[in-house]
Amino acid sequence: MNMENMEQDEQNTKEIPEFYRDLKEDLNQNGLWYFTFRQNPKARRKPIQTPDNKPHKVDFKWSDLFGNKTNQIEIEVGSGKGHFLTEYAKKHPEISILGSEWDKTWAMTCLERLIKKNVTENTKMLCGDVFYFLRDAVPANSVDAFHMYFPDPWPKERHHKNRLLRPDFLVEVARTLKSGKRLFYWGTDHKEYNEVALDAFDHFDGCTVIERNTVLPTEGIMTGFETKYRKEGRPIYRSLIVFEK
Ligand SMILES: C[S@@+](CC[C@H](N)C(=O)[O-])C[C@H]1O[C@@H](n2cnc3c(N)ncnc32)[C@H](O)[C@@H]1O
Repeated sequence: MNMENMEQDEQNTKEIPEFYRDLKEDLNQNGLWYFTFRQNPKARRKPIQTPDNKPHKVDFKWSDLFGNKTNQIEIEVGSGKGHFLTEYAKKHPEISILGSEWDKTWAMTCLERLIKKNVTENTKMLCGDVFYFLRDAVPANSVDAFHMYFPDPWPKERHHKNRLLRPDFLVEVARTLKSGKRLFYWGTDHKEYNEVALDAFDHFDGCTVIERNTVLPTEGIMTGFETKYRKEGRPIYRSLIVFEK
């Protein structure tokens, strides 16, 4: 490695340190799973950094969450208050669906809705950053479909780096999807983010946008944000994408 690369590598290491994360179920709340930094008992709030700054893979199987109901697994990225997740789960008892939220308040709100609507048999809630969960825990070839509706658009240019629909996220989506033709459901109200996302799909190997900006809510089920945005008369961009491998 030459000096320039070393400096670059050091800089990257400084910018994106790697931490141990653990997956565990809430002791008092069945169905709520945390994928969060491993706490350092010596410094209670300080997460533990991996010594080699490499991702720490977690030993995880879908049966840890869904017992023997692992034939069909789908993931919703950023479930919000869980409007879509509950209605979709009610319609599809045959599918095991993991909702995800890094915001604990939303994760709890979502789980409360799942409990109230009696769909906890085939749903679980992940509280944590879904990108790291995919990258460090989810086995390859194990997911049937992804749903991603109205993700935070981070409209300011200096915040675009926080957007989740980015090439390294798509790498994990493609890796974790089962082989054959698998679906990714996408929706947003944000014109520019939509264009960036569709461009990312278009340029991703094995990925085809089969319906572009023409799709209605998945099986007629609107998300919480969608209901609000449609009332406000905002344009909605929904597309259907196939990952083939
Ligand atoms: C704008 S809301 C949309 C919620 C819901 N999909 C809807 O349409 O009503 C986006 C949600 O994604 C969650 N989120 C954003 N990035 C995330 C990540 N990396 N992992 C898990 N949740 C995330 C946010 O906390 C937020 O609740």
